[in-house]
Amino acid sequence: MCGIVGYVGPRDCSDVLVSALTKLEYRGYDSAGIAVFENGKIEVAKSKGRLSDLVEKMKKEGKPQGHAGIGHTRWATHGEPSDVNSHPHSGRRVTIVHNGIIENYKDIKQFLIENDRTEFLSDTDTEVVAQLLDFYYDGNPIRCIRKVLHEIRGSFALGIVFADRPETVYAVRCESPLIVGQGKGEAFIASDVPAIIKYTKDYYLLEYGEIAVLKNGSVSFCDFHGRMVEKELKTADWDEDSAEKGGYPHFMIKEIHEQPTAVKTTITPRIENGLPDLSECGITPETLKSFNNIFIVACGTAMHAGMVGKYVIEKLARVSVTVDIASEFRYRDPLIGENDLVIIISQSGETADSKAVLNLVKGTKAKTLAIVNVKGSSIAREADMVIYTHAGPEIAVASTKAYMVQLAVMYLLAFEMAYAKGRIDEEKCRQLTGELVKMPEVIEKTINSISTVCQFISTQLITADSLLYIGRGLDYALSMEGSLKLKEISYIHSESYAAGELKHGTISLITDGMPVIAVATQNSLLEKTVSNIKEVKARGAMTIVICDEKAEIDRDAADYMVRIPKISQTLMPMVATVPMQLLAYYTSVNKGNDVDKPRNLAKSVTVE
Ligand code: F6R
Repeated sequence: MCGIVGYVGPRDCSDVLVSALTKLEYRGYDSAGIAVFENGKIEVAKSKGRLSDLVEKMKKEGKPQGHAGIGHTRWATHGEPSDVNSHPHSGRRVTIVHNGIIENYKDIKQFLIENDRTEFLSDTDTEVVAQLLDFYYDGNPIRCIRKVLHEIRGSFALGIVFADRPETVYAVRCESPLIVGQGKGEAFIASDVPAIIKYTKDYYLLEYGEIAVLKNGSVSFCDFHGRMVEKELKTADWDEDSAEKGGYPHFMIKEIHEQPTAVKTTITPRIENGLPDLSECGITPETLKSFNNIFIVACGTAMHAGMVGKYVIEKLARVSVTVDIASEFRYRDPLIGENDLVIIISQSGETADSKAVLNLVKGTKAKTLAIVNVKGSSIAREADMVIYTHAGPEIAVASTKAYMVQLAVMYLLAFEMAYAKGRIDEEKCRQLTGELVKMPEVIEKTINSISTVCQFISTQLITADSLLYIGRGLDYALSMEGSLKLKEISYIHSESYAAGELKHGTISLITDGMPVIAVATQNSLLEKTVSNIKEVKARGAMTIVICDEKAEIDRDAADYMVRIPKISQTLMPMVATVPMQLLAYYTSVNKGNDVDKPRNLAKSVTVE
């Protein structure tokens, strides 16, 4: 949520900031702005709307010319999207950009009004911090930042410039992620690595309470107490192409096509002699044997991957799994036992509610396992064990490849746990693992074979106001994700329902022509699901059935069918995900929506 960047070096600073912000727009896109030192003075350009609106504005009015500055792309939390609420925000001598939330901003605002007669221009919590920095500024930036850090509460990362410290950028991190890039004779700050990958792959990860000073192209660090800190320089293993669309019209479709590779890269290092082996993640069969209960906690799509995990782990390993939404789990005083395992799934590794769950569980004797995509993210670093998914950067706000690799990890975990607990024998474990190994090929084949039909079916969905996704068992878990994907980018209201539950109330919603998408890949439940499809069809629904190529389904039950390759029931979710993604994608495209940046949303939800 919100992306911040900063630059000090020989290049045209405005251009660098805009280029870096382009890669962070997934974090928020309701306004954007930059502040650059021009002839020793801070010049600000900002605008409501997309980054492209800011670029247009600067084309007309001129862009700040200089070699050091900060920038921001916003997802509004305090105050509507408007020019005046856009970052950067300034006091008399200080200008800042901010990602996160300042919880006690009202108290500070009151304090500044009473003690400094400060006048505020915007409704933001950020301006309050800029004014507080100004209030304490005595010519020593570090002392001033430290003083302010003692007074503000919340999760935040800041980029700061002081008017009397030209060509210098300060940055500080408390919770919200921030990296500091180091190039040859130039330095950067950014909320995420893809922002700077075009310029350098070398970066430092700022830790909680650390302050960075970017000056003369190099960087120095100190901690919360003002003590100098030596930091380890890391090298990103993503290349520039991974943050570009690579010829695809949208990141989402590019990322759908990247799924076979992402799955392969995720599972290959975790399979040894045909059997799952998570030892490189610090997970042994003994560890897996020791757990009595499992909680899977996450948000949104990641939580839906956990739903699939629940079905598979319970079925194969016979361990009880509870799946929870992180924002609920953290406040419901859950009963967590000593030998329990809490799995947190998160693409970004920075989601505020998921992070809070991790902190909560750390106060118990249970073990925590993070399944995370972004290396070095907070959740990954703080959990007892971590399995990284290797999806590469996911830029589209609607998650696709990250979900797919989360499923892959759920399977690895389920297979190894089931084998470790003696619930399946070696032969069965080998057979399941072998099927998982084939998935990249099957997913690729599926994408290629069903794209056209999904594109066509989506033209039948665009006029709908509301639709239902239904399924049973694993198909129900999947339909939750299908429904979320569709609604978030097509803006068509959609609910997922357990197919057998419809008749207990929801079936009254069915009207003539209302689309019902049925996921029917579980052979053992097929007959029952088909009955439910017929029930909605008899009440006027337009039915779209996602089933395997061999499934016997009466032609009159389905208005449209998407046939996908038949593999074992257990692994069907990894294939059935593809049509759901494509239906959502093409519906959004056909409606003319901004697929990668759906309204009101942002990726990496670092606020509660
Ligand atoms: C939807 C989507 C979100 C995220 C959720 C959790 O397409 O991407 O629902 O899954 O915000 O984010 P992470 O996985 O970063 O914790």
